[in-house]
Amino acid sequence: METVVFSGDANRKLSEEIVHNMGLSLGKVEIVHFADSETRVRIEEDVEGKDVFIIQGLSNPVNDHLMTLLLMGDAAKRGEARRVIAVVPYHGYARQDRVHRPGECLSAQVVARLIESVGFDKLVTLELHNETILGFFKIPVVHLSGLSVFRPLVEKIKDDVVVVTPDAGALKRAQSFSEGLDVPLALIEKKRDLNTLHKILSMRVVGDVAGKTAVIVDDVIVSGGTLVNAAYLLKQKGAKQVIAVATHADFVAGADKILQDSPVDKIWVTDTIPVSEEQRFPKLKILSMAPLISEAMKKMVKQ
Ligand code: R5P
Repeated sequence: METVVFSGDANRKLSEEIVHNMGLSLGKVEIVHFADSETRVRIEEDVEGKDVFIIQGLSNPVNDHLMTLLLMGDAAKRGEARRVIAVVPYHGYARQDRVHRPGECLSAQVVARLIESVGFDKLVTLELHNETILGFFKIPVVHLSGLSVFRPLVEKIKDDVVVVTPDAGALKRAQSFSEGLDVPLALIEKKRDLNTLHKILSMRVVGDVAGKTAVIVDDVIVSGGTLVNAAYLLKQKGAKQVIAVATHADFVAGADKILQDSPVDKIWVTDTIPVSEEQRFPKLKILSMAPLISEAMKKMVKQ
């Protein structure tokens, strides 16, 4: 066996589905979290001269998941793997992709440096918050878009559809989704209060949504605040139905209730981040990203 795939502890179920699609099984690795919050990793396979994939998303708790990814990469390098590829289904810290206020750190760049510092040869990731992050890496990055999995569902909608971007930063993503579907695009202008966490100051719709099904396209849902505010506004402007699609569901406590009780009619996400049984709610549908990720990895095995 020339390829070994290891899973971190962020989303083992997704990793299992990925290796199953590749006709492989997961390599053995021991991940220990000590009582003092330190982590230790030990790869229990011979990786010398082999291609190693390490699947570990950077969801909540992001710092623990990042550290585990780095330690697994180091262990594989020390085992003299031929190539070590990080497969990061959800790339945390991606929203800190620029310095918003003087004195702030540039976290997305720090994370890129950390990943490179342990010697990863390549990164495979999905639906980055912003493509500018690609410029923070010197190693090659394969950036997959998760939105294609939602396309068949949107195509089944009988009403007129308008794709909505929930903020100006997400414009490019929504634009390419609407072009692919050949439907119009509307924009929500969102102003955040940078001095208060998760607080949105104002929102305004630009474009025609009246009588249509508005499909909001976002990279990630966390508290649900962005979507819920957008949905209220879209319904006020006459949208018949509001559907939210987001690749990553990094739900914080309470997001399930906020979203279920909101004017959003349906919420479609993927399994890049595990959503526990307790966090699920009737309006939520979870699609699998395993086929897309495993196909991308299979292509790399052939190289
Ligand atoms: C923001 O720029 C992101 O693309 C998401 O819209 C945002 O992070 C979602 O967070 P929340 O669900 O807490 O509003």
